[in-house]
Amino acid sequence: MKVSKVLVAGAGQMGAGIVQVAVQAGLQATMIDVADEFIAKGMAGIEKQLARAVEKGRMGADDRDAALARITTGLDVSAGADADLFIEAAPESLEIKRGLLERAVAVLRPDAIIASNTSSLSVTTLGGFVGGPERFVGIHFFNPVPAMALVEVVRGAATADDTVATARAFCEALGKTPITVKDSPGFVVNRILFPMINEAAQAFAEGVASAADIDTGLKLGANFPMGPLALADLVGLDTTKAILESLERDLGDPKYRPCPLLGELVAAGKLGRKSGAGFYTY
Ligand SMILES: NC(=O)c1ccc[n+]([C@@H]2O[C@H](COP(=O)([O-])OP(=O)(O)OC[C@H]3O[C@@H](n4cnc5c(N)ncnc54)[C@H](O)[C@@H]3O)[C@@H](O)[C@H]2O)c1
Repeated sequence: MKVSKVLVAGAGQMGAGIVQVAVQAGLQATMIDVADEFIAKGMAGIEKQLARAVEKGRMGADDRDAALARITTGLDVSAGADADLFIEAAPESLEIKRGLLERAVAVLRPDAIIASNTSSLSVTTLGGFVGGPERFVGIHFFNPVPAMALVEVVRGAATADDTVATARAFCEALGKTPITVKDSPGFVVNRILFPMINEAAQAFAEGVASAADIDTGLKLGANFPMGPLALADLVGLDTTKAILESLERDLGDPKYRPCPLLGELVAAGKLGRKSGAGFYTY
């Protein structure tokens, strides 16, 4: 099936980003949230991004207007009942996602694909809330969605091959590069990235090198665009610690345990860029 209409639940950072790239790629998109104020905030973010693209000459004003005209909004799944693909980008709560998925099954066409943008919940578990789990798949975008090329397409235990193929084709139509991943904690990127960030934090705590030298080491020695400590500050040290804790719990391996310095920085309110200080001062 080719996706031409997408319904996105959640007008937050991720949901609005997904809607933006979908309409820029010529798809129709419906964005829903629980209150008008959240829809307005999501729409304002999309309008600002597209205005910047026009200013920089990356997009014509007519194309911007046409893209915005392809967005409709609403406060319930029924606002996009004819969608080919539903993606929920609501908060990372099993209960919220369960409610949305059950509502989606009741309202959408039986052949529509149902997806979650979850970072850490089990795709197989979420698929259990959908009458036919073979049409359920994880579509894990990265933040910020318009800038990040990768999407992890996550195959739950019951996801059908056709569903994975449709999800991959949808990502490619958006100009993204999908990788296919079996449902497992942290998928591919977070499972590999966060232990590396943790190791960098531990090396810093042991006085192996300064934060700047650790980051320069990985940038110039491993060709990373950004050092691991600067990246941790960007993600947020509280989020970094929470991701490591969930990897440790879900994979049952102490090698993912957050290094003590991360806990100390978080307890001191040093959460990275968003609080003005972390491994660096901003
Ligand atoms: N932020 C990231 O870096 C990132 C990256 C990849 C994946 N994710 C995942 O994406 C999802 C959304 O994250 P976010 O950062 O965009 O969160 P966010 O808090 O920015 O946005 C969530 C939005 O969902 C809305 N919402 C709450 N309940 C709802 C419901 N029942 N129906 C419709 N909308 C509802 C909220 O009002 C809010 O606007 C989460 O599952 C998260 O794990 C986040």
